[in-house]
Amino acid sequence: MNQRPSILIARAVFPDVVDKLQQHFEVETTPAGVVWSPAELVQRLQGKAGVLTTGGERIDAALLAACPQLKIVANLAVGYNNFDLPAMTAAGVLGTNAPDVLTETTADFGFALLMATARRVTESERFLRAGQWKEWSLDLFAGAEVHGSTLGILGMGRIGQAIARRAAHGFGMPVIYHNRSKLSPEREAACKATYVDKAELLQRADHLLLVLPYSAASHHAIGAAELAQMKPTATLINIARGGIVDDAALAAALRERRIAAAGLDVFEGEPSVHPDLLTVPNVVLTPHIASATLATRSAMAHLAADNLIGFLVEGRPVTPLNPVVLAG
Ligand code: DGY
Repeated sequence: MNQRPSILIARAVFPDVVDKLQQHFEVETTPAGVVWSPAELVQRLQGKAGVLTTGGERIDAALLAACPQLKIVANLAVGYNNFDLPAMTAAGVLGTNAPDVLTETTADFGFALLMATARRVTESERFLRAGQWKEWSLDLFAGAEVHGSTLGILGMGRIGQAIARRAAHGFGMPVIYHNRSKLSPEREAACKATYVDKAELLQRADHLLLVLPYSAASHHAIGAAELAQMKPTATLINIARGGIVDDAALAAALRERRIAAAGLDVFEGEPSVHPDLLTVPNVVLTPHIASATLATRSAMAHLAADNLIGFLVEGRPVTPLNPVVLAG
């Protein structure tokens, strides 16, 4: 009888996903709340053909060299900036991600964060909970208009387009966007979005939403120079990745009211958060939860599991990132 492949689940997932994987593999799981250090991860990957990661585990040339039996890394995330994909391809290791199943849920959250930020929901709640609400006044926590205001989107993939549809059709917002490539006229029409260059995006947006992938090219795409081009009344929302915004520069801009407010779901070096962001009132901070509904996180975990099974058992992964490996 052939020995079943061994895999590691590097971050705790739902029990039904573990059950599904145990039907095909010898499975080593990770207890809830445990995050392996890079050295521990390498140790646990010895003899494993596959690993289910969550986007926080760095997969680079050093790890690949130390884990020669590894054949596939299945990310439970659409973003895969934790992968050194060229190194994986060179080592013949397949990478997969978890696209599509989170698009609408993540777009919902992008809009929730935009609403909470523009309308000062968490700032006013903190005020109320602290017992500071003594009287109603006309300008009490007066925020920025959302409906009818101009939404700028930086990065216009599936999630950006889903947000644009909500904004244009639900809130009557003119939508402008900047992206590596312009959408087809059909796609632009579907989300009523107009392509502009980055400078125009920064200058015209009442609300600027970031949904671009993180890479060396997008590192600090929003820094002091970009913040200086935005309207003093503008809000900035980041649901993409930490590192796209220079958090120190943003905290300074918020403190000096050079922009009105920000909503951040992702942070450079998370789960650490730049201390200056914790001391400014006009920022909404959430712990990387844009795709966090049980239904969506379950769908993402099942897709990652299906990639492991699809590749290691059937030779057909569902969402390969470097399919060139399959031909090797
Ligand atoms: C993703 O899927 O990339 C989300 O940010 C969760 O990591």
